[in-house]
Amino acid sequence: MNQQSGFVVRAPLAEELSVLAEHEPPNSGIAASHFAAHLLGQVSFAVAWDGSKPLGYVVLDHESAAHRPELKHLFVYPQARRRGVAGSLCDWGERQARALKFSVIYLAVGLLNEPARNLYRARGFRSIGEIVQTSYEYPDSDGRLRLITEKDEFFLKSLSGPE
Ligand SMILES: CC(C)(COP(=O)(O)OP(=O)(O)OC[C@H]1O[C@@H](n2cnc3c(N)ncnc32)[C@H](O)[C@@H]1OP(=O)(O)O)[C@@H](O)C(=O)NCCC(=O)NCCS
Repeated sequence: MNQQSGFVVRAPLAEELSVLAEHEPPNSGIAASHFAAHLLGQVSFAVAWDGSKPLGYVVLDHESAAHRPELKHLFVYPQARRRGVAGSLCDWGERQARALKFSVIYLAVGLLNEPARNLYRARGFRSIGEIVQTSYEYPDSDGRLRLITEKDEFFLKSLSGPE
């Protein structure tokens, strides 16, 4: 429980996927695909909840990422931003990585994504000097797939210090 804001970060239950889908473009199945990978043990998937209301989510990829473990897909719903939700989701990811005996944690952040870059820098993440261009299809608000190309920079944080 985040003492100041009163929300909790935990894995969703199968029956909660429909609530998460209400926050997604139609038929995109974003939470459902993260949940399926979570059940297979490839990733850990967690959602921040205010009671039964989801606020955002994050994935820790400890199997397939080039740099492991990698914090991925951090997203806070627009109406829940600037309340510390992303910070709590990152706290969860770092705790999860420690529990899995990793001593570092990676993530990739867009070169132009200042909100996220501020968040990660403030938490002690630093660039490893590796920039990758990624292209992926993402559904727009009508559910139509759009090809998105962006340049991401890898950041690293050591987990060996005190929490
Ligand atoms: C980036 C994002 C996850 C931040 O979520 P959030 O819950 O609003 O973040 P928090 O409230 O935990 O903010 C923590 C810190 O991050 C930084 N930050 C967050 N949003 C910011 C903004 N819009 N502008 C500047 N700094 C910002 C600040 O340092 C903030 O601390 P402060 O509020 O004390 O100033 C959210 O804006 C989001 O989901 N964006 C779209 C998806 C995305 O970019 N994900 C990251 C992929 S790498």
